[in-house]
Amino acid sequence: MSTAVLERGPEAATHESRLFASLARELLHQLSILIRNSYLHPLSNAVFVEPLTRAQNATEHILEVERSLKLELVGAEFFANGKHLRMEIRSLHAYRYMREELTRAGLGGLEFGGAPSRAALSGLLQALRDVRSKPDPDVETFNEMLVSQGIHAFRGLPPREASLEPGRQAAIGRRQRAIQAYEQVLDFIRDSMMNHESPAQIDLRRAKRSVQRLVDLSFEEGEGFSLAGMAAIKGHDSYTFNHMVNVCILAIAFGQRLGLKRRDLARLGLGALYHDMGKLHIPLEILNKPATLTEEEWAVMGNHTVYAARTLFPLIEQDPDTITRILAALQHHLNYDGSGYPKLRILKTQSLIARIIAIADTFDAMTTKRLYQRRFLPDEAMKALVEMAGMRYDPVLVKAFINCMGVFPVGSAVLLTTGEIAVVIESNADPDRVHQPRVRVVTDAAQQAIQPAEADLTAPAEAQRQIVRCVDAEEFGINAASYAF
Ligand SMILES: [Fe+2]
Ligand SMILES: [Fe+2]
Repeated sequence: MSTAVLERGPEAATHESRLFASLARELLHQLSILIRNSYLHPLSNAVFVEPLTRAQNATEHILEVERSLKLELVGAEFFANGKHLRMEIRSLHAYRYMREELTRAGLGGLEFGGAPSRAALSGLLQALRDVRSKPDPDVETFNEMLVSQGIHAFRGLPPREASLEPGRQAAIGRRQRAIQAYEQVLDFIRDSMMNHESPAQIDLRRAKRSVQRLVDLSFEEGEGFSLAGMAAIKGHDSYTFNHMVNVCILAIAFGQRLGLKRRDLARLGLGALYHDMGKLHIPLEILNKPATLTEEEWAVMGNHTVYAARTLFPLIEQDPDTITRILAALQHHLNYDGSGYPKLRILKTQSLIARIIAIADTFDAMTTKRLYQRRFLPDEAMKALVEMAGMRYDPVLVKAFINCMGVFPVGSAVLLTTGEIAVVIESNADPDRVHQPRVRVVTDAAQQAIQPAEADLTAPAEAQRQIVRCVDAEEFGINAASYAF
């Protein structure tokens, strides 16, 4: 296997490079759909028409500018013409699938010498299917198969391994591990919620493993990495699933700052992950209703707290930690002053775990756009928490949460006094300087995309750059989460 030093500079420096990266991602995405379909349908099936056309268009557009296109898998990441393609959460499945498929076919990537016809792309699928059926597939066999079909528009590339500077390797490794950990918990939640009737049947060992990885990552905070920043990922998948993972991540990051020990963090994380498990019992028409709920519907919805607790109760004997999950589920809407629900005769005051989760829960719910609710900006959500401190939320914990997250949490897009837009990448631990986090400046004063540059707003040299307010990243076409960790 050959090694090569790869260009790993932040992508999206210019409009052209952003366009190139998005077309390359589109091609990867369409190829993953095509390959998946090729397992299920004959190549003449109509399901291939749209993804074939899209893949062909993406390749054509790229080749109008670039002379050729090398789409390569190096280590676990994709590169297009030597440029690193940052993973995006909405395409994680596609990346992972392509990684597995290329590896199975003994390939390290594909090189497009000219825009392929649809027939040639179809031939590619055929060759992939054929080479996979060989006992020891390799790139030579694959290329011979292409040539025998008269296809010369592209060829397979041999597998290769990355060779990067150790510092960058570590940073990328950590980001990648973080994304994989996120993905693993999300997969787990999706499987559990889709396949089980009750929270009691959930594979606890798998849940504990997944949460443990997040706990481990929470101890790697700093140096431009923030576990809490991952909660800025607002997946397109499903509000409920992403919400559970995000609340779990926020609770762990928060608990870690509060000084909880690893074991307690794992308990807290699991409690947070389970906090809304009772929603399994809520009819979908209420759970996914694209409008504000009626009073009766709220009453049904409110029962999610007791449903989970009731099902988990018998498990206490087997696993005493179950009590943490029961408290999380039962009390997270109880409110600090006991004014919430459910109305109970016992356990009338919120446990520490429920008080922590209630804050993480509100923060994530408010900062996520839903059909019936606009997305609140992170600083607005912080303000709402402060306003309700002492009533709904533990006032001491609200203060600690703001200290942990910063007034401008990691992942927030902010407008600077210079007119530039930046994304917060690390909050300031100094309580007097919470307004001055580390940021990544992503546009110029005219709000045009630039090569992202880091800035520490406490540095004297950055005196002219102060935060004016949070802004909605989407309005500026910025994927804040992709800069945040
Ligand atoms: Fe809830
Ligand atoms: Fe929740």
